Amino acid sequence: MEPTAWPGVYREGRDLHTINLTPGERVYGERLVTRDGVEYRSWDPFRSKLAALLLRAPPPELPARVETVLYLGAAHGTTASHLSDLWPDAAIFLVEKSPESFAPLLALAHRRRNLYPMLADAQLPERYAADVGLADLLYQDVAQRTQVPIFLENARTSLAPAGLGILMLKIRSVTQRRPAAAIVRDARRELESAGFEVRSEIPLAPFSKEHAALVVVRSPSPSTLR
Ligand SMILES: C[S@@+](CC[C@H](N)C(=O)[O-])C[C@H]1O[C@@H](n2cnc3c(N)ncnc32)[C@H](O)[C@@H]1O
Repeated sequence: MEPTAWPGVYREGRDLHTINLTPGERVYGERLVTRDGVEYRSWDPFRSKLAALLLRAPPPELPARVETVLYLGAAHGTTASHLSDLWPDAAIFLVEKSPESFAPLLALAHRRRNLYPMLADAQLPERYAADVGLADLLYQDVAQRTQVPIFLENARTSLAPAGLGILMLKIRSVTQRRPAAAIVRDARRELESAGFEVRSEIPLAPFSKEHAALVVVRSPSPSTLR
């Protein structure tokens, strides 16, 4: 296992792995491998857009210490389980609005002490912002037409000033009618005009078609996000 640019993420051949926080347990049928007495879980880039991003271009802006994560659109917890491996002592708040997805997410959180699922709509961050406090990482994967406004509203209420934002933009959820490049360009402009610097814009193909990851930090100049 070779360490990667993201602390806690390891690579063997073409595959990424994290150290299993709950040895012996799989979350989504992933492979478990033991090396030098340590059990790792393979991290499937076709199932997790964050793994796809880390294979394409790991964001170097990750805060040195991640204590709080706000994750919007956690579904059954596939990606969230790897964040749980990465930061055992963090509080990882998982927002999910579908009751069908929430049930397995809750079951996962019973086995992993750093996951805090919330059955809530990410369009209404005022319902959970007080529980979350300030997040070092805001991660969003909600496949909604209003993905960028949802991200901005959550950043405004919950992202720490030195925090990192990762928006997994599902291009065709915004509109079917415009070229993909124009949709990504508009999302980027929207983020920039709200006071973010877009550090990278990474297409996630071939792992996730019609998705782009936008990695953002606050711009140094504006004092507040609009
Ligand atoms: C593509 S799936 C997420 C997959 C997950 N991020 C992973 O990698 O394991 C999108 C999820 O976002 C949820 N979602 C969509 N709109 C939402 C909203 N407004 N608030 C909270 N969750 C939402 C959906 O119910 C769905 O479970």
